[in-house]
Amino acid sequence: MKKVEAIIRPSALRSVLDGLKKVGYPGVTVVEVSGHGKQKGVTETYRGQSVEGLLPKLMVVAVVDNDQVQEVVDTVSEAAKTGEIGDGKIFVSPVDNAYRIRTGEKGDKALS
Ligand SMILES: Nc1ncnc2c1ncn2[C@@H]1O[C@H](COP(=O)(O)OP(=O)(O)OP(=O)(O)O)[C@@H](O)[C@H]1O
Ligand SMILES: [Mg+2]
Repeated sequence: MKKVEAIIRPSALRSVLDGLKKVGYPGVTVVEVSGHGKQKGVTETYRGQSVEGLLPKLMVVAVVDNDQVQEVVDTVSEAAKTGEIGDGKIFVSPVDNAYRIRTGEKGDKALS
C-alpha cells in the first residue's frame, strides 16, 4: 500500500476527483492546507491576483494498492496541470497497514 498525497490548486479539485473516479479508488481525504514551493514567497497568481507567501492549496490523500499508484499519479497530474507555476506536487510514501474499523479487516482487504 502507498499513500499518494497530492497538493493541488483548490480550483483543480473537481477535475482531480472526476479523474480519480474514472480510475477507481478506495477512498479519499481532502485537507485544506497552505504552503509554498520553490519560489518561496515570490509572487504567484491566485484567482487572478498577485499574492506573496503561503498560498491556500488542497491536499488530496489517497491510500491505494501498489499496482494502482502510477495510474493515480498520472490521473491527478493530468487533472491538476495548467502549466503555470504553483500547479502542485505529488508525494508517494509507503503505508505499513490499514484497518477498516467496522469489520476489523486489515491490509489490502481494508482498502477494497
Ligand atoms: N518540498 C515540499 N515539501 C512539502 N510541501 C511542498 C514541497 N514543495 C511544494 N509543496 C507544497 O506544494 C504546493 C505547491 O507547490 P508548487 O507547485 O508551487 O511547487 P514548486 O516546486 O514551486 O513548482 P512550480 O515551480 O511549478 O511552482 C506548495 O504550496 C506546498 O504546499
Ligand atoms: Mg511554486
